[in-house]
Amino acid sequence: MSIILGIDIGGSGIKGAPVNTKTGTLTAERVRIPTPEGARAQDVAEVVAELVRHFKHEGSVGVTFPGVVQHGVTLSAANVDKGWIGLDADALFTRATGQDVKLLNDADAAGLAEARFGAGKGERGVALLLTFGTGIGSALISGGVLIPNTELGHLTLEVGGNAVEAESWASDRVRETQDLGWKVWAKRASKYLQHVEMLFSPDLLIIGGGISKKAEKWQPLIEVKTKLVPAALQNEAGIVGAALYASEQ
Ligand code: BGC
Repeated sequence: MSIILGIDIGGSGIKGAPVNTKTGTLTAERVRIPTPEGARAQDVAEVVAELVRHFKHEGSVGVTFPGVVQHGVTLSAANVDKGWIGLDADALFTRATGQDVKLLNDADAAGLAEARFGAGKGERGVALLLTFGTGIGSALISGGVLIPNTELGHLTLEVGGNAVEAESWASDRVRETQDLGWKVWAKRASKYLQHVEMLFSPDLLIIGGGISKKAEKWQPLIEVKTKLVPAALQNEAGIVGAALYASEQ
């Protein structure tokens, strides 16, 4: 049995648990520590190290990050401190924890987990996972293989003659802060999803993030041609996907 610690860095919480990567199940209850104010790299690294100590974990650790990650370097920071841009975060976390850390984008991690163990299990074609939370994350998976860092939350849409960034208009945070009803939000999400459909012609759309728990509220209101399902692993997807990724490096 291969046990790897998965850690999911989010805007409000940093969550971790050991994962059996053969079954995609957590082997201990997950622990959540609030994300330090400002989400600066050094402070986040300390929380990651605290989680490693908490689980007395030795060996590989998979960690997610809510931005572009290329070969361990964080290249964007839409919703976290800008000091992450260009940082070798993989090396920072490896030093902070004393363990071998592997880092990937948060939506990519969720996509890997859903494709292997969740809503995309058995899909042989193109599956596209979109997470609606603070921002909009995306994971493109073809025949089980991830094409990382697609960043489809930053696509531009035309709304009333203006160009708007998809995640600034249709994320779950926007739904909450603008107090949008489900009907209005679903209309926005449908416009965005139709655009993504036109670009990628996926076989399956998986909707993740916080809203996947409330699928009965929005699923009947979304208008797309593609088969669309809510994510199955909900708030464990990032942890499981991070561990899975680390186990395969
Ligand atoms: C970031 C993505 C991330 C998504 C969800 C976006 O703002 O650019 O990298 O996956 O938010 O956290």
